Amino acid sequence: MASAVSFQGVRIERPQSRSQLDEFARLPYSVYAGRDAWWPPDVQNEIDLLSNRSHLSSYLDIEPFCARRDGRLVARVSAVINHRYIDHWKESLGQLIHFEALEGEDAAVAALLEESAAWLKQRGMMRARSGFAAFLDYPYAIDNYGELPSFLMRGNPAYYHRYFKNAAFETEKGQVDYTSTMSPENQSRWRKMFEGASASGVTIRSWREYGFLAAIDAWTDVTNAAFDRHWGWHPVMRTEVRPMLMSLWETPVADLSMLAAINGDVVGAVFSVPDLSGTLAQVRRGYRLDPSRGGGTRGALINIGVLEAARGRGIALAMAARSFLTMAQQGMRYAGYTLVLDDNWPSRHTAESLGGRVTANFVNYIRAL
Ligand SMILES: CC(C)(COP(=O)(O)OP(=O)(O)OC[C@H]1O[C@@H](n2cnc3c(N)ncnc32)[C@H](O)[C@@H]1OP(=O)(O)O)[C@@H](O)C(=O)NCCC(=O)NCCS
Repeated sequence: MASAVSFQGVRIERPQSRSQLDEFARLPYSVYAGRDAWWPPDVQNEIDLLSNRSHLSSYLDIEPFCARRDGRLVARVSAVINHRYIDHWKESLGQLIHFEALEGEDAAVAALLEESAAWLKQRGMMRARSGFAAFLDYPYAIDNYGELPSFLMRGNPAYYHRYFKNAAFETEKGQVDYTSTMSPENQSRWRKMFEGASASGVTIRSWREYGFLAAIDAWTDVTNAAFDRHWGWHPVMRTEVRPMLMSLWETPVADLSMLAAINGDVVGAVFSVPDLSGTLAQVRRGYRLDPSRGGGTRGALINIGVLEAARGRGIALAMAARSFLTMAQQGMRYAGYTLVLDDNWPSRHTAESLGGRVTANFVNYIRAL
């Protein structure tokens, strides 16, 4: 341990060795042990990040903290100084990612959040955010407790909100997750959206049709431009995105993800995934997932962006429509549109025009330091 601090029988430690980091990364297995279905962590990926051996490491200062009571690991969080975020937004904002905690550990969590917030403050940060950091952290669920959340989303217990509020955090942003059904009406609407864009000279191609590796770079470029002023985001590099997505070229992601081009120039990008619950979720033997949540029937659009100059011409709708139609052809019955800020009306209108209805809600937290 780099250092340890004790308060009222609770010890706050900073894990460093491989086995300490492994224990840290596995805490969710205790928190979610009673769940019928949940998304387990990518333990190796987390250990690489915490050991500064990730593609993201050169942009981050990161320090994991954990709370122990009577020797037992009961809560954890990692404090992050994300230099790219700070350079992009010119804001001294630190992040608290990887937060997980057992129930009834109010004193331990209070001490943990205090220590990790102090670490950020000592390094000049003015605010601490938890629940949103590009590629690193996702918001906290405020409904559907106990159910399998959409892919990438947290399915945290309700008591997490008490922990954050008691540690002087405020809700910063709300976010919503939409779901559309593959009804005949929706599918015929989607066909019209796709055909309308084609008729007006917009070419929609899947990443497989475009060439998967070139499509990854096109996604990075369009996303950096389209999300330049999107709350919470910061630019990412082609060299970090390639290794993250490269292995997906043999999967349905290549057919479900889309690019839109006008006169050969890519102006829009969509990244979508098939139902991953069968391969990545931990599901209790014999448990049948609600088909709108998983079990082979829920695909999801994870990210959509259109360059500013090409907006308002139905390009987002056309890309999403073709992605959803391909999901339907592959036997999926539901299409997620994951995840939209409450105040991002262009995106919310896009989701609603696709027949989406809000099926889950999330928040992130912020605290002055
Ligand atoms: C969201 C985004 C992808 C929409 O792209 P677009 O190609 O302009 O959208 P479309 O032209 O297909 O329009 C989709 C719907 O949104 C509506 N819309 C588009 N721009 C809007 C705006 N500025 N304000 C309100 N509604 C808007 C359209 O009217 C349409 O709804 P309708 O069918 O009821 O008419 C684009 O604005 C964008 O890239 N924004 C920045 C990145 C982002 O926020 N991505 C989504 C993250 S969740």
